[in-house]
Amino acid sequence: MSGPVTIRPVEQADLPGFHAVMMAAGMDPRSSWNRTTLTDLERSLFGADSGGFIAELENAGVVGCVGYRPDGTQTLTLNKLATRPEVRGQGLGARLVQAVESHASRAGYARVLLAVSQFNQDVIPFYIRLGYARSEEPYAHANPASPAPVVFVKNLGTPARAS
Ligand SMILES: CC(C)(COP(=O)(O)OP(=O)(O)OC[C@H]1O[C@@H](n2cnc3c(N)ncnc32)[C@H](O)[C@@H]1OP(=O)(O)O)[C@@H](O)C(=O)NCCC(=O)NCCS
Repeated sequence: MSGPVTIRPVEQADLPGFHAVMMAAGMDPRSSWNRTTLTDLERSLFGADSGGFIAELENAGVVGCVGYRPDGTQTLTLNKLATRPEVRGQGLGARLVQAVESHASRAGYARVLLAVSQFNQDVIPFYIRLGYARSEEPYAHANPASPAPVVFVKNLGTPARAS
């Protein structure tokens, strides 16, 4: 699969495509990720100050996705990052992370925080390469039924906004 890819904000009509990419991601079955319903996704992506981006490949629909939700006034949390296995290794995952970081900067957040499932730690070098550093702080949106995730933070260097 190749061709021009557009990264754009997610809209209601993209929910099935976003969900399908998540379900095709190949996440460990012990993670709560695979039990995400369309209703969960809609609630998460379209809550107050929340949103996301999709990567859309001409003639192939949604091939990548990422979401974000605030945690207070200084921190934007990044979640639900995935690309279809057929398009991996072409920089799309990094572009989706950068789309969230640009949005966070524009919206005045000081940092982006994300949580890696205990069952998905192989992805950690990907985030470290993008400038994320391990943090011992808890994850505000953690699933109480899952083991505590590993938290990573990137400071954006944007001027702090009023809290
Ligand atoms: C993580 C993910 C979004 C990266 O997407 P991508 O489109 O391949 O991203 P990029 O092309 O920008 O970067 C790929 C790099 O990340 C590395 N990487 C990503 N996930 C990895 C993993 N689980 N194990 C090992 N390496 C991984 C790749 O090896 C590759 O490295 P390279 O550039 O040296 O070859 C994709 O692998 C994915 O959807 N994984 C399953 C869902 C997931 O784990 N999401 C993260 C939740 S915290």
